[in-house]
Formats: sequence, structure tokens, C-alpha cells
Amino acid sequence: MAWLGELDLGTPAVPASTAAQVTLTIDGEPVTVPEGTSIMRAAALMGTSIPKLCASDNLAAFGSCRLCLVEIEGRAGYPASCTTPVANGMVVQTQTSKLKQLRKGVMELYISDHPLDCLTCPANGDCELQDMAGAVGLRDVRYGFEGQNHLVQPTDASNPYFDFDPTKCIVCSRCVRACDEVQGTFALTIDGRGFDSKVSASQNEDFLSSECVSCGACVQACPTSALQEKKVAEIGTPDRAVITTCAYCGVGCTFRAEMRGEELVRMIPWKDGKANHGHSCVKGRFAWGYAQHQQRILNPMIRKSINDPWREVSWDEAIAYTVSEFKRIQEKYGVRAIGGLTSSRCTNEETFLVQKLIRQGFGNNNVDTCARVCHSPTGYGLSTTFGTSAGTQDFDSVDQSDVIFLIGANPTDAHPVFGSHMKQRLRQGAKIIVADPRRIDLVRSPHIEAAHHLPIRPGTNIVLLTAMAHVIVTEGLADEDYIRARCDWDEYQDWAAFVSERERSPEAVEPLLGVPAEEVRAAARLFATGGNGAIYYGLGVTEHSQGSSAVMAIANLAMVTGNVGRPGVGVNPLRGQNNVQGSCDMGSFPHEFSGYRHVSDPETRAMFEKAWGRELDPEPGLRINNMLDAATDGVFKGLFVQGEDILQSDPDAQHVAAGLAEMECVVMQDLFLNETANYAHVFLPGSTFLEKDGTFTNAERRVQRVRRVMKPRNGYADWEIVQLLANAMGLNWNYTHASQIMDEIALLTPTFRRVSFDAIDQYGSLQWPATDEHPEGTPTMHIDHFVRGKGKFVVTDYVPTDERSGPRFPLLLTTGRILSQYNVGAQTRRTDNVAWHPEDLLEMHPHDAENRGLKDGDWVRLTSRTGETTLRLDVTDRVAPGVVYTTFHHPDTQANVVTTDISDWATNCPEYKVTAVQVAPTNGPTKWQEEMRERGRISRRIETVAAE
Ligand code: SF4
Ligand code: SF4
Ligand code: SF4
Ligand code: FES
Repeated sequence: MAWLGELDLGTPAVPASTAAQVTLTIDGEPVTVPEGTSIMRAAALMGTSIPKLCASDNLAAFGSCRLCLVEIEGRAGYPASCTTPVANGMVVQTQTSKLKQLRKGVMELYISDHPLDCLTCPANGDCELQDMAGAVGLRDVRYGFEGQNHLVQPTDASNPYFDFDPTKCIVCSRCVRACDEVQGTFALTIDGRGFDSKVSASQNEDFLSSECVSCGACVQACPTSALQEKKVAEIGTPDRAVITTCAYCGVGCTFRAEMRGEELVRMIPWKDGKANHGHSCVKGRFAWGYAQHQQRILNPMIRKSINDPWREVSWDEAIAYTVSEFKRIQEKYGVRAIGGLTSSRCTNEETFLVQKLIRQGFGNNNVDTCARVCHSPTGYGLSTTFGTSAGTQDFDSVDQSDVIFLIGANPTDAHPVFGSHMKQRLRQGAKIIVADPRRIDLVRSPHIEAAHHLPIRPGTNIVLLTAMAHVIVTEGLADEDYIRARCDWDEYQDWAAFVSERERSPEAVEPLLGVPAEEVRAAARLFATGGNGAIYYGLGVTEHSQGSSAVMAIANLAMVTGNVGRPGVGVNPLRGQNNVQGSCDMGSFPHEFSGYRHVSDPETRAMFEKAWGRELDPEPGLRINNMLDAATDGVFKGLFVQGEDILQSDPDAQHVAAGLAEMECVVMQDLFLNETANYAHVFLPGSTFLEKDGTFTNAERRVQRVRRVMKPRNGYADWEIVQLLANAMGLNWNYTHASQIMDEIALLTPTFRRVSFDAIDQYGSLQWPATDEHPEGTPTMHIDHFVRGKGKFVVTDYVPTDERSGPRFPLLLTTGRILSQYNVGAQTRRTDNVAWHPEDLLEMHPHDAENRGLKDGDWVRLTSRTGETTLRLDVTDRVAPGVVYTTFHHPDTQANVVTTDISDWATNCPEYKVTAVQVAPTNGPTKWQEEMRERGRISRRIETVAAE
């Protein structure tokens, strides 16, 4: 499957549904297009390409290069076709002798100040300037190359992924406009005037030190090699392209993986990608070098004890050893003494196979997934209130939102492409309310100012959501018609009475929230009366002892204002990992088969038993925390982990380590020796998303293809490794391609009934549920009625977490992500993204730092009731006094050694977002850090024996 280069129609589309149609004639041919379309686009749509340099169909027309001139009958002069809209009856000529002469003259001027090194230029053959010189027939430059020019200027090579060579810049402003209009960072300007005009990053800084977030939109926009990927210079221009999906976050951007032979040259975001529309962030576009990293493990390894060095073995030996160990453990300790974990980084097909292996092969339901520690409350909360365990909208829905309520999410760092999309809507005039203890980017950034920032104390989401509901109900702002028509009225009345009590008013809870009551009232009024209100939330909502309650409180708020069931509104969980939605859909929880059907349901079980040819366990299995508890109790002895690093990602790391250390066979399947592998007995090397076929499901329920662009360096795709294990257990699986696994998923899962690789190829992607009437899927859920029938209002009483600050631990720690890193950092730390975030930092307000005699950059000891770690201090007023914040991307810090085992009452999702801590100066690493470093040293000892 190869696409190379995408058609650029010159200017953006005008929505056909809203505009009248206009017919004009171009070069003697009639063409009909929506009113407002440019002549350039109309011509391109009929197959006539007018020469252009400053125009691109993802940017507003600018009209600076004067190459796209046309003649229009009855009009004087030569207007630019990119900035001139079509009109009924207009007669346009695009190729007259006068136009040819003018264009040649323009090109001549450009080329007279451009290095003539096309043959050695990295963009040779992939350069619009070169193409246009050919298109206008330029053969000679009359002016010579003497005199003043821009041909001697230093290249800015500071960015690890791309260079800026100003000698090749034609000052077309495409980069500046891409940064403003697409990315929304406003990092670039054209500095100076006339001859002195030049592209400048921030205040004439180099790219790396500037505000640039390295999204690459400017590089993609540049028509020359002034902005150029370093990899193109190193490898050469690509010769084929494969469409695939990013393996980082839940936005699910699709890319053209551009290849030269077996080598990946660059990732270009795909214009037809329905989640990203041709945009990307630094991770998806540039941070894929980990696939070739020297630390990648490519041969299977085993060891008897976690204190032994690893021994490289053949695949046959590794698989046989694993199966014999699991069988031995089951014979000795019982069928339920082993289990496994699926990964939200792996494909749907791989996840489905892991849970199948456990249910069919292990004979129990001891399967869990990393969604347990992030969005399991979303599953519980939204199924209870609406009837479906997923967000209600597609990303494009935000284009129709008037008020965005963002709570516990930081899209510009964690879901960057959607963050940029949201910023575009805000610049068009939508309003945003941000509830977050930190002053995130969307509170204030260039051309963005939140209507309200509610910096609530960590752990008080429910209090805020209920106080907002109090205002809406008591001030008569509830949408009663909607509620009567769509929701259970009796339940609503009970809930309305509950939220109306005085003790839930913004005034009553002001001391608890730490936010002025008037601000909460104003935010609630705005949300209820400002037009289409959409709620977006993230882990700052779910990762709490009341995570599930907070999700239900969000659903209540959406229903009471009539904001579910049409574009522009809804409840939108921003999923963390690339396939966290998919791993949940695929039956990765111990109580559910794929499609969220309970294992105790005889009818569902009978269907799976028939398909899989064995009796299945009707008892829900153990959650990950229960597996670890059972391990320390000596009754759980074996674990298969695919693509997860629970030691770094799960809370209370010392408890995780203790549980793992008690097991007799831990099998780790991953790319690198991660922290969990330090406790493993078998290591099965995994494959990257570049090396396999499959699908990921993004935060909008969009199922998209992952396509193999190169051979697996370890020899097998991850699903093939699971099949090897299954067959060694005697299960007789015969999949020869990932598509056959999806066919089985579709057969056994009603919401996936119409999903197949062929259907995805046909439509580009499918948003489940796909139905006969809507084979492409369902962008907006719950349109006429909720999936469960009537929407359910649930009373969500505030129960304070047991984790309180006090004299010993006076600060509240909350955790999150940073743009350049991803999750436990296993991939991004092995790329040049470390240029932006080489270590985890602890953010602290200047008052708190001063009280402790601490300065910016000091090493500090972070201590909680659970554990302690050391890291460096970042003194900033981004966090409120009393709150500290850190990320969890680096194993050396292991921030989760301080997080507690407190978890959500309904789902056991850990309370990462509230930990009472103390911070003090330190003079060295903690004992735990020393121990972990030593474990890492042991685990890195590998006896290399020739593998098969
Ligand atoms: S890489 Fe992105 S953020 Fe940086 S200057 Fe270019 S467009 Fe702007
Ligand atoms: S760097 Fe490229 S996109 Fe930017 S102004 Fe120069 S030529 Fe145009
Ligand atoms: S926004 Fe997410 S899916 Fe898109 S490129 Fe970045 S990490 Fe990948
Ligand atoms: S493309 Fe129209 S003026 Fe540059």
C-alpha cells in the first residue's frame, strides 16, 4: 500500500453543506464549487494546478508569493488565485503568455537569491521551489548572483529532529502560519521588513531554546529545505509510504510512514486522518527512533532466579520453559495461581489474544490491564449513567462547542493534537473553563485566556461538580424538557434535592475547594447558558478514591444541562495510551468478555465456550492489585505481562516489587528490559508498532489500522508470540494474519460486528458501534435516547479521601505528564526527546520553597507515608501553595514509590492524584533508589548464547 505525496489543493475547503454552489469557467471548462472557494482550489479540483509557493490547503490564503496569478475576464490586472474567491459566471484563464512571463519573472527573483545546490540538497526531488521553477519553465536567471543576498547565514541545528537553513528560506510565511493556525504555539515570526525579513523563533532564539514544541508543522509546511528533517538529510528522500497509526497517545493520529527500503525516513501526519487531519505532535512525528535503539532486546532470555544473569535462548526453549513453569505452578498451587496483563500499547488483536490465552489456556479470568490504573472509572461511571463505557463524541465535535469545561486534563501536554484542535476552536470564540490545581497551558497561552480557572485542591473534584450542579438547579438553569424526555425523572428529582442542599453550595464548600464561590457560580452559569457545553476530562478525574463518582457527577452535569446527544456537547474522556479504549473493549478486565459482557452471564459464556471449545470460568478473576496481594500471601505464583511496566506505572512501587518477588515465574514481553523485567524469569522480546499489523482504538472509539512497515527485528509480531504460547499449551490456534483475529472479535462482539480490516481500508477508520445504517460508525452517541434507555442521575456524595495532609506531610502531591515524554518513558527516553525532559522535576510554589529554604534546581527528598524518593526542584507559581507536582517518566525517580494504595471505591483505580507529602533538602538517593539501581544492574547482565 503506497502513497507518496498528497495532493495539495492550495486553500482550505469551504464546508459544502453551508454554502451555495457557484459555477465558473476555468480555461474553457465549467466547474461548480461552494461559494467562498478560491479560484486556485476550484482549478485544482478540476485537475488544473496553478503554480504556487505560499499557499497550502491547511492554511488560510496569504497571497504573498505572487506566483499564482490568473487573468479574469472583465477584471483589470492579474489577481492571485489563492486569495480570489470564485463568482458565478466568472471566466478565468490560468495559462496565458502574459501570465507565463510574469510567473517566470517572480521565480527568477527567488532563484537569484537561492543557493544553486539542488543536486546535493536533501530536498532534491521533494522541493516545491524546484518543482515550481520547472513548472514555470525557468531556464535562466538574468540578474546574476552578485550583490546583496542571503546566501551566507549559519544553519540552526539546535532541534534534534530538524534543521533551519535560512539561506534556503524564501520568506513565504508558511512555517509561521502553520505554527499559528495549525499548532497554535505562535513560536515563529517574520522579523524585519523588506530585504531584511527573516524567520525568527521566539525572540531571535534558536529553535531548541524557543517556545517551539517541535510538532513539525512548520517543517511539513516549508516548500523548500529551509526547514528539513535531519533524517532526510541522513538517509535520503523516501521512495514509498505506508499509512499507519501513532502508538503513543489516545488521540490516534494517523501517519504516512515514509520509507526508503526497510528504513523509516520520516512520519508525515496524514491529511485524511480523521483524528488529526494532517497534524501531529513531537512524539508521533519524531520520537520513533527507539525501534532501532541499541538497548532493544531481540532474543528471548530465561533465568531461574531474579538474582541470576539472563541466558539468551531460542524461541522454542523460551516458550517451552514458560509453558512448563505455568503448568507446574497450576499443578502445585491451583488453576487460579497464575494470570496475565494485557497492554494498552498493543493492538486490539494482541490484547484479545492475551485475554483469550488466559481464559481458554490458563482456565481462569485472572486478566487485567493498565486501564485499571487510568480509565477504569470511566468505564464504570459512563456505563452506569449512559449505558456505554466510552466517550460520547468524535474530536471534530469540538468545532461546534461554545463552552468547553476541562477538568483534570491537560490536552496540550498529554493529547497535543487534540489540544491544538481545541485551541483553534477557542481562537474562533468558544469559551473554556479549566478546573485544575495547576495553571496549565489552556488557562493562558498566546491568544487563549480561560473564562474561569478553578484551581481546586487535589481531591475535591466531586465537591466542585456538585457545587456547579447546585447553582444550575437552584438558579433554575436545568434543562427540564431534556431531562423529562431523556432521563429518569424520579432519579433526577432525588438528585436535584441532594445537590440543592445548602451545604453543597459554592459558598459552603469554598474553604474545601480553595476557590472563591463567585467564581464557581459564574463558571456554572456559563456552562449552563453559554450554548453547546462539552466536558472533557482526564486522569485528574479518574485517578482518585472517588474517580467513578466524579465520572458520574460529570455525566449528571451534562444531563442536567441537556448536553448529551448532539455534536458540540457530550462527555469526553481523554484516554491516555494509544489503545486504552481498545484494551478495555477487548475484554481485558477480569469480570468481562469483549464488549463489556459479564463473565457470569451464561448466554455470553456459552457463545465463547462454543467458539473456543472449552468450559470457561464463570467467576470473575483477580485485578492486578489483588494478584499482587495474593502473591504476597503466597497463593499467586505466575504472571504473564505483555507490554507493561507495572513496577514503574502502578502505585506503591514497594508493594508491587514485594508481590513480584514472591512469584515463581514472571514472564515479561516488551521491547526493553524495563523495571518489571528486573523481577522476571522469562523475557520475550516484543515488536514495535512499525513491525506489525493490527488496529488501535482511540479516545473517540475510532478503530484504525496499524500497518507493518518493516520486518519485526525480534522475528515475530506480538500476536504471533502469544500464539506460540497458546499452541505450546495445546490450544491449536491457526491465525496467519492479524485480520483473522479481528474477524473473530467481530463474530463474538456485537459492537464490533461490522469491523474488519477490509471495512477499515474502505472507510479509513470505523467508530464503533458500526451498524447497517451507519457502516462507518457512530460519531455521536446517545442521539435519540441513551444506550441504557433513560439517562441515570446518580447521587454522588463527597467522601474525603483517607489521604490527608497534616503536620508530618503538609503538602499534596499530584502527578501528570509532559509533552515530550510518554507514560513510563520506555520509548521516549530512548529518543532525542530527552532534550526537553531529561529528568522528572518536582514543581513547588515559591512560598513553599522559601519556607523550606529551597531553591530552584536543588535536590530534594519527597517523602510520603508510603515511601520516599529524590528529585530536583522546579520553583514555579504554576502550582498553588500547598500543592506539589511531578511526572513519572523516569525510573530513576520512580515517583510511584510515594503514591499510596488508596484506590477508587468501584474499580480500584489508584489515587495517583492525591498524596500527602513532605519535601526537604537531601544529600543523596534513598535506600529504595539504591536497591532499584542494583536490581537494574543485575538484570542487565546477559549471557549471550547463539540464539536460533
Ligand atoms: S515545530 Fe511546531 S511549534 Fe515549533 S516552530 Fe514549528 S510549528 Fe511551531
Ligand atoms: S522557512 Fe520555509 S516555510 Fe518558512 S518562510 Fe522560509 S521557506 Fe517559507
Ligand atoms: S497527539 Fe498523540 S497520537 Fe497524535 S502524534 Fe502526538 S502522541 Fe501520537
Ligand atoms: S500561492 Fe498565491 S500568492 Fe502565493
